[in-house]
Amino acid sequence: MRTVSKDTITQSFLDYVVEETDERLKFILEKLAHHLHDFVRETDLTHDEWRKGLELLYSAGEISTPERNEFVLFSDVLGLSSLVDMVNSPEDGTPSSVLGPFHVLGAPDVPVGGDLKGENEGPAVVVGGRVLTTGGDPIEGAQLEIWQTADNGLYSGQDEKQPEYNLRARMTTGADGRYLFSTVRPAPYTVPEDGPVGELLRATGRHPWRPSHLHFIVTASGQRSLVTEVFPSDDPYLDEDAVFGVREKLVMEYQERSSTEGISDDLAIKSDLPDKFYVVDFDFILSSV
Ligand code: BEZ
Ligand code: FE
Repeated sequence: MRTVSKDTITQSFLDYVVEETDERLKFILEKLAHHLHDFVRETDLTHDEWRKGLELLYSAGEISTPERNEFVLFSDVLGLSSLVDMVNSPEDGTPSSVLGPFHVLGAPDVPVGGDLKGENEGPAVVVGGRVLTTGGDPIEGAQLEIWQTADNGLYSGQDEKQPEYNLRARMTTGADGRYLFSTVRPAPYTVPEDGPVGELLRATGRHPWRPSHLHFIVTASGQRSLVTEVFPSDDPYLDEDAVFGVREKLVMEYQERSSTEGISDDLAIKSDLPDKFYVVDFDFILSSV
């Protein structure tokens, strides 16, 4: 190994990996070593630049807590999280999108037609659609977990003024595969900028905004679970999401309404809807396992 050079170090590293190593781990390490070493060779990385990179990682560790993982945020703003989503998203179903850090377990069960709006300020929205197989059949008993920001751009858990589980629910579809709920329009918001990710965004002239969205996790037996988000077509940040979560098939319309004609009687607050409200119609297609 005394003859190791910048051209042979990648192979030297790989020679250290013993034969019995798990095949997939070996493959991933081989690719990682090639790309990391090429990165240094191609950039002629200086000691100062290498140290700066390690300092960023150190600060990411320092600012991380069980509730806030700065490494995940780095992965998000570098496009890594979305790329992992894209390579793992089946072609035939609704695309997946980033989970984000604000999902919590234990949201209350809300029946189809239930209300999430409660006392929340903001434009009223009726969101509904079906959960379907790729063949177009409705899926009975599919479970949806739903979470979103209030109209101040904050999730419950981030904002002490919001009750626990505000704008969060779990809903189970009936025989027709339908889900339906009333809520308020979520707002665009910024990803946390007070750590090394913010430093990177500022250094590269990037803004921290995400377009407004509704988060969903949709699960059903015999189908692949789907973690996704849906985005309104009129959001100013639709084409510049800081974490690259938007896909064409995840874009929906807020249709403005001034009459409840056509709104299902299942909607608990149908008779209390304001004069002007919005309707979102979005189907989820789950591919089979
Ligand atoms: C979110 O959508 O909740 C989110 C995703 C990535 C980073 C920050 C927030
Ligand atoms: Fe979000």
